[in-house]
Amino acid sequence: MKKITILDVQKMKADGQKITMLTAYDCCIARLLDECSLDIILVGDSLGNVVLGFENTIPVTMADMLRHVPAVARGRQRALVVADMPFMSYQVSIEEAKRNAGMLIKEGGAEAVKVEGGENMENVIRALVDIDIPVMGHIGLTPQSIHRMGGYRVQGKGEHQRQKLMADALAVERAGAFAIVLEAIPASLSSEMTRMLKIPTIGIGAGADCDGQVLVIHDLLGLSGTFRPKFVKQYARLDESIKRAVSEYIDEVKTGTFPTAEHSFK
Ligand code: KIV
Repeated sequence: MKKITILDVQKMKADGQKITMLTAYDCCIARLLDECSLDIILVGDSLGNVVLGFENTIPVTMADMLRHVPAVARGRQRALVVADMPFMSYQVSIEEAKRNAGMLIKEGGAEAVKVEGGENMENVIRALVDIDIPVMGHIGLTPQSIHRMGGYRVQGKGEHQRQKLMADALAVERAGAFAIVLEAIPASLSSEMTRMLKIPTIGIGAGADCDGQVLVIHDLLGLSGTFRPKFVKQYARLDESIKRAVSEYIDEVKTGTFPTAEHSFK
């Protein structure tokens, strides 16, 4: 089995092969995704929303990431593991950014980090790439900027915002990122960016023309409750399967039909 590297991801763009990425936060799901030959596993700071129960990604800490990134890394053999840098782990200084990104690689076992931001993060991305830490950029709807954006809204709609996002994408590429996530932007804009950039674009709510796609695994599996943005496709309803199984278990324990001799020791 061939291990996926950032070079393979870049070659996929050159070869016109779509790149597949999903999030995972634990060893069990990482192993399953890996067994499906997914290209990239992202340990997203969406951890805050879907696993830790926060309203947004702002409260996620380096300690949280350093607990979950190694768990994911232990579950994969083939996929490239990318770790999100949580809010305030890279914004204060380049030194802190380097130290924190280094920990995600060295202690976490990730092979790359993801940083939100465009022109404003060009220096940070360049500094990490300069010390051999591969960086995935992330522009458009950047959840760590929720307070500036005033909520989760589609970005890049007017001409001014469109130009700004184009400048952001070019800054991320110029800084040396190996790929870039485009979140919640019009399909026509991501299409133009994908043609303009040499690095692969990975879209979430950014249309079909990106070089790859990413979704949050809980959204794809139907584990996100009533939260369902337009760009999410539910490929399963694990919520219903889990509730059915747990209700059956409760019923059988209450009525004494579980455990039977089959599940007991002699
Ligand atoms: O944190 C995350 O899961 C992400 C993806 C939605 C791209 O950043």
